[in-house]
Amino acid sequence: MEDIERVVADERQIAKKVEIAARWLDERFAKAVEPVAICVLKGSAFFFCDLVRAMKTPVLTEFITLSSYGDGTCSTGAPKLVADLSSPVAGKDAIIVEDIIDSGNTLVLLKELLFERGAKSVTCVALFDKPARRQKDVKADFSCFETGDEFLVGYGLDYAQRYRTLPYVGVLKREVYAGKK
Ligand code: IMP
Ligand code: MG
Repeated sequence: MEDIERVVADERQIAKKVEIAARWLDERFAKAVEPVAICVLKGSAFFFCDLVRAMKTPVLTEFITLSSYGDGTCSTGAPKLVADLSSPVAGKDAIIVEDIIDSGNTLVLLKELLFERGAKSVTCVALFDKPARRQKDVKADFSCFETGDEFLVGYGLDYAQRYRTLPYVGVLKREVYAGKK
């Protein structure tokens, strides 16, 4: 794909990590009663579907839409709740499935929201982690890949809603978004 500078995780590498993350979750939730896996739309949709199907533990599935980026490549700092969960999480073990942890603002907000609503536990699995960009002291309990200060697209990750359907994750060429921030 001409807009991609380099691939950081190809289909095989992603599939391998999804399997490892699923085994990690299976172990952690072996004794849990119906944990609920929460897909943070839209970015984690592809990762979420692969992950929950790779798990042996049965999980409930829920979806929440948060938006923090608008059409740029920098978080606005104040994620907005666009569409809420469809059922209560009180007393449940919640598993947040995120595409990427960047500033950490989204994860902090989500964790607060779930604990306020009475979740019994909150665990976060992320496909990517950008530790160097963190503004909040928060981290995923499991992250599949780490990356630096680069803007990634593919396998759910977008730039202005584009590139989500690429089967791999790659670095978006700067010239694609330069001057548009
Ligand atoms: P945070 O609140 O800054 O941690 O941002 C989290 C959200 O921003 C992620 O769930 C993504 O949806 C989006 N995001 C952060 N970095 C990237 C990236 O490199 N590519 C695409 N989306 C990103
Ligand atoms: Mg996201």
